[in-house]
Amino acid sequence: MKLPNLLDAKKRTNEEVKHIYLEDNYDSNTFKGQKYFLRTYGCQMNVHDSEEIAARLESLGFTSTDTIETADVVVLNTCAIRENAHDKLYGFLGRCKHEKEKNNNDLIIAICGCMAQEENVVNEIMTKHPYVDLVFGTHNIHELQALLLNRKEKQNIEVYSCEGDVYENVSYKRDSDIKAWVNIQYGCDKFCTYCIVPYTRGKQRSRSSKDIIKEVEALVKKGYKEVTLLGQNVNAYGKDIEGELSFADLLLKVSDTGIPRLRFVTSHPWDFTDEMIDAIASRENIMPYIHLPLQSGSSRILKLMGRRYTKEEYLDLYKKIKDKVKGCAITTDIIVGFPNETEEEFKETLDVVNKCKYDSAFTFIYSPREGTPAAKMEDKISLETKEQRLQELNELVNSYSLAANKEYLNKTVPVLIEGISEKDSNKVFGYTDTMKLVNVINAQDKIGEIIDVKITDAKSFSLDGEAI
Ligand code: 5AD
Ligand code: SF4
Repeated sequence: MKLPNLLDAKKRTNEEVKHIYLEDNYDSNTFKGQKYFLRTYGCQMNVHDSEEIAARLESLGFTSTDTIETADVVVLNTCAIRENAHDKLYGFLGRCKHEKEKNNNDLIIAICGCMAQEENVVNEIMTKHPYVDLVFGTHNIHELQALLLNRKEKQNIEVYSCEGDVYENVSYKRDSDIKAWVNIQYGCDKFCTYCIVPYTRGKQRSRSSKDIIKEVEALVKKGYKEVTLLGQNVNAYGKDIEGELSFADLLLKVSDTGIPRLRFVTSHPWDFTDEMIDAIASRENIMPYIHLPLQSGSSRILKLMGRRYTKEEYLDLYKKIKDKVKGCAITTDIIVGFPNETEEEFKETLDVVNKCKYDSAFTFIYSPREGTPAAKMEDKISLETKEQRLQELNELVNSYSLAANKEYLNKTVPVLIEGISEKDSNKVFGYTDTMKLVNVINAQDKIGEIIDVKITDAKSFSLDGEAI
């Protein structure tokens, strides 16, 4: 039993990060015939972690199922950021408990991901949810098989609050054979005052560029058309390893593998260098799309958030990117209602949105995360005011999304076709190089290809088009 601990999670030392090359060898007959149900909440990092979890379960012989009623093991990969994350988890746990008590006493219920790294969550699981069998964290996904094989009767909690290591030779059961996520870096050392990520995912640590390139080369060989480099703060790539490539140089090296489309998330404006912008602008296969979180348009709030840039610096960076990377789409994250954000400060956020005219934005009402500095700030702004601000912001953001999409009307653009549309089986869907979702007619046989599509209609969140 190992419980998460906030003080340990917060610690940063100069201890060298270990790069551990796993040599897993499990018997795929162990749980033959048994099924797993895996649900993922939250960001791309979690989505990709779930691809690892699925591969680990399958290495023991489990196969996947879509319903908890047919499952032998349920794994919930949780998020600590998204609105209502806690409610969603406990709601779903209720269903699992019912299933276990009524129909399947042997059902194994496992919780992992960022919420598993939170002290208060694990305390609640221990006191109120004794039927949960296993809790493991973001630092020991690689132990999943061992945890399942060596299960004891009682609730087993194995969560490490540490700076973390880097594991290599990891297998993934990728959701797609067209586009793939590739981790380049784990954790975060920025400690923005509202954010729990530096506590749940450990210190910023980069994979070696050699291992990253090897992974991408293998994906290219398999015929993958797109790779997205993943990290909490990709711009800081390499800074923690002496002699390692910068992110700009890594981008160029990955671009050299010949992968048709290369993307990356997430960038922090503070670390965004001119070399990066030049790298993006110089290569056809680095997509003109950047997610550039703003968080707030007020320099005072940005300072309280610990973001390390001012409104003006953000706008300068935005302009530089737009000037150099032709046709670049920019999306963002914005938080409203940070403690004591005034009406004028909120208006500054609207002002930045009016200047940047984002292609789209994820918007959040600030919610305190236990253990973060902002959670201790007294806050005089009512929830009602925050909700009004969010609504006003969303209306503005959506109007710019629609305007940006309308720019595409009657144009012909390359789209990577990914699959059949969920809503209409006569259509396929894909993304432009600028990450716009397009529903396409006349292209059922083009899945996995980058084709020219003429845009025939534009809505706030998607485009319609026809293959030409
Ligand atoms: N409250 C509201 N939004 C948050 N985010 C992160 N932490 C919080 C919080 N405590 C948002 C930020 C970040 C995105 C992934 O989630 O905008 O960029
Ligand atoms: Fe959180 Fe800031 Fe790190 Fe992003 S950069 S993960 S917002 S602490």
